[in-house]
Amino acid sequence: MVRTPLCDLLGIEAPIIQAAMGFPNTDARLVAAACNAGALGSLGTYQRSPENLRAELARIAELTDRPFAVNHLVPVLNQEMFATTLAARPAVISFALGNPGPYVPPAHAAGALVMHQVTTVEQAREAAAAGVDVIVAQGTEAGGFGGTVTMATLVPQVVDAVEPLPVVAAGGIFDGRGLVAALALGAQGVNLGTRFLASEEAPVAAGYKEAILAATSEDTTRFEALNDIAPGPGTLGYPAVVRAIRSAFTDEWEVRRDEIVQRAEALRAELVEARQRGEGHIRLPVAGQSAGAIDEVLPVAEIVRRMTAEADAVIARLATLS
Ligand SMILES: Cc1cc2nc3c(=O)[nH]c(=O)nc-3n(C[C@H](O)[C@H](O)[C@H](O)COP(=O)(O)O)c2cc1C
Repeated sequence: MVRTPLCDLLGIEAPIIQAAMGFPNTDARLVAAACNAGALGSLGTYQRSPENLRAELARIAELTDRPFAVNHLVPVLNQEMFATTLAARPAVISFALGNPGPYVPPAHAAGALVMHQVTTVEQAREAAAAGVDVIVAQGTEAGGFGGTVTMATLVPQVVDAVEPLPVVAAGGIFDGRGLVAALALGAQGVNLGTRFLASEEAPVAAGYKEAILAATSEDTTRFEALNDIAPGPGTLGYPAVVRAIRSAFTDEWEVRRDEIVQRAEALRAELVEARQRGEGHIRLPVAGQSAGAIDEVLPVAEIVRRMTAEADAVIARLATLS
């Protein structure tokens, strides 16, 4: 089975990471399913309560004894929740959207490896200088907050810039072909969000998964107006814009941006209330371009099994070319 040195570093069998996604998109069941399938599961802390984080960490400990990651967004990092993460001593603590520098020593002191997600070469250099152990280079295809450079353009540049640090590719990867392509670009693994959202175990509404199955790649948009509505992850650290499947909400506020400043508080409340009702995805179905290629909700183990089998087949086919 396809393996890279990253597998040995992280203690996983397949070089696949179930990406960190904020609340409510990841939970202990999803993380444990990824870990038990041989991948690295990641629990996002963004928009999670401290009580919920403690409960999910306890549940992960019941469901798996494999390595997993806990993720914090640097510009909105909650100190109480970071302390909870350190106390849980996960194998990996991952960060995104800002300089992780201050958090690297305490993470290392807690015995964790530090993984940091970047969208530019400069951010990768900064993270390497801060002493992180793994860099995730995220292309603009990705769901969630991201930058403007494509995965295939960014990954080899980041690989060269931070050598010998291992690099993981993210953005637009959904199958074994994408995994092998990432390895060809110099990455040692892949980080997938959208594909794992459309899994049986992902704790999101059926309508959200259906929206991913129905979407074409062109149906996703970088929804810049969110940074006016809810300044935070996309404005306080590394500049970033959220990618989501177009909805009536994104269509409306993309063209009414000049009105947002006066309406921001009400729109923020609308988004929070929708999320609390489990309907956040109706206004903002956060997902990446790979939605266009995903047409089936699958168990996490099957996603990992298919990806690795496809990757093995692609590698064997490529070997016949030389
Ligand atoms: C719904 C959603 C929420 C996300 N939330 C986070 C987050 O809280 N922290 C983070 O580091 N990345 C987050 N991401 C980005 C993922 O970590 C990952 O880089 C991305 O999903 C990869 O691209 P893909 O969606 O094309 O697989 C999120 C992505 C999605 C789709």
